[in-house]
Amino acid sequence: MVQHGVTRVTTGGRVGEDIFAVFEAAKGFMPADEGRALHAAAVEAAATTGLPLLEIGTYCGRSTLLLADAARAAGTVVVTVDHHRGSEEQQPGQEFEDEDLADPEFPGRMDTLPHFRRTLAKAGLEEYVVAVVGRSPQAASALDGGGGGRFGLVFIDGGHTDEHANADYESWVPQLAAGGLLAIHDVFPDPAEGGQAPYRIWRRALATGGFAEVSACRSLRVLRRTGATGA
Ligand SMILES: C[S@@+](CC[C@H](N)C(=O)[O-])C[C@H]1O[C@@H](n2cnc3c(N)ncnc32)[C@H](O)[C@@H]1O
Repeated sequence: MVQHGVTRVTTGGRVGEDIFAVFEAAKGFMPADEGRALHAAAVEAAATTGLPLLEIGTYCGRSTLLLADAARAAGTVVVTVDHHRGSEEQQPGQEFEDEDLADPEFPGRMDTLPHFRRTLAKAGLEEYVVAVVGRSPQAASALDGGGGGRFGLVFIDGGHTDEHANADYESWVPQLAAGGLLAIHDVFPDPAEGGQAPYRIWRRALATGGFAEVSACRSLRVLRRTGATGA
């Protein structure tokens, strides 16, 4: 992962190309080409299904705003889930620590929630986002009341351990509509390039026989659900 986003963008109400300017300025780990691929997938999923989009791993909103822009264009919303305390590798002293994200009231903890809110405000997209602050499996369990097939796109970019990636897969993929898109970030077939947990859930999805490959842009992989809902 590479940490992006140090420049400040001060105007709001952005659409179209300006979305990518806010994206570039936001803190986060997704490079520009993968961001454009994610945006294209989200635009297609929102337009074809008309259903809300779902993101696991909000962080500071860098990827969220792309999903929000796609949701806005289709008259729907993105639901984004994060406990906002950071993944293992983002904690103090770890490889992807960012001292700007330290919680001023709780030493040793990080808090990305205020940064996320500012990113959305700068993009002018707050009204197209439903933010869920909590742990992914608990959020999925609490929001499961409508049954399967409620989301047009599920984007998995939360915790990168096998435990978290599998929990995200099992919690949320059953809620992806038939014909909807499953996007997974940090899929690295070569272990020398990165951790293997996202790669393993990407393979898990393909092994079900219920998904077809749609696109690959570096580590961002997009699959279409061709079979019935279910993990
Ligand atoms: C790699 S970052 C997400 C990056 C973001 N999608 C972007 O492109 O900028 C992973 C995020 O997942 C969150 N996370 C990790 N495990 C989680 C869990 N079990 N439940 C909720 N959020 C979790 C972390 O707090 C962190 O903000």
